[in-house]
Amino acid sequence: MTACISFVGAGPGAPDLITLRGAERLGRADVVVWASSLVPEALLTHTGPDALVVDSATMTLEDVLDVYRAHPDGRIVRLHSGDPSLYGAIQEQLDWCEAQGRAYEIVPGVSSLAAAAAALGRELTVPEVAQSVVVTRLANRTHRSMPAGETLGAFCATGATLAVFLSAARPEALQSALLAPPSAYTEATPAAVVVRASWPDEQVVATTVGSLAEAMRATGATTTALVLVGPALEGDAPRSHLYHPGFAHGFRRRSAPGTTAGRPAVRRAGRG
Ligand SMILES: C[S@@+](CC[C@H](N)C(=O)[O-])C[C@H]1O[C@@H](n2cnc3c(N)ncnc32)[C@H](O)[C@@H]1O
Repeated sequence: MTACISFVGAGPGAPDLITLRGAERLGRADVVVWASSLVPEALLTHTGPDALVVDSATMTLEDVLDVYRAHPDGRIVRLHSGDPSLYGAIQEQLDWCEAQGRAYEIVPGVSSLAAAAAALGRELTVPEVAQSVVVTRLANRTHRSMPAGETLGAFCATGATLAVFLSAARPEALQSALLAPPSAYTEATPAAVVVRASWPDEQVVATTVGSLAEAMRATGATTTALVLVGPALEGDAPRSHLYHPGFAHGFRRRSAPGTTAGRPAVRRAGRG
């Protein structure tokens, strides 16, 4: 690839949870801009020995854009935590690239949402229990970013699985918001706090909405923590339609309950 700014999802923290494409872009980069406050240093093991590595933790957008300006012909990687499409602050950078005529691409990453669900060992969309996941946050100091209709109250009323980012520093405010009418959650609704999912010091705490603030405080984390809420986090699940013999789809005919679909398509990897 020639000169390009690659906005790469670093994944949730473990260096082997970056995508192959993301690691390849890091390996070929002339310049890597990364935030040491959000991305573990271990991710830089994918970077080539001659790359210029710039820590953006103390930088403004203007400072970062100056780095891009200084390397018009370089292969630049801007490393963002998780997947850049969620709270990545990339849109303002993409707009700049468009305005400047700079080539860019986005390389997706494994979001902390997926890593937290994996750490918890749960599917977030359990049939008949929850079929929607709401990704949201408390307003905090950036309350002007929050559109008026996007209140936690509005989302809690659905009873869907909630993934609350960027809110670890306000445990009481979060717990109160989750229980305020017309919330569908109760004090007994399952909740979980996942701190630094996939990092060596990962913490996973299963709790309830009623004990959430206490559980959050007990982790000691004020950043890099995700809160999951909803009935999908606990209990057995009814079986899904997708693999039910009575449910036909484009790749499988309906079969009698208790029977199999017939011979599965099995072959050795690497052979046509
Ligand atoms: C600026 S946002 C970036 C989110 C990121 N784009 C993603 O897809 O995960 C940072 C917030 O994401 C969450 N987060 C990021 N990495 C995390 C991890 N490894 N474990 C738990 N939460 C994480 C926390 O809520 C943190 O405050």
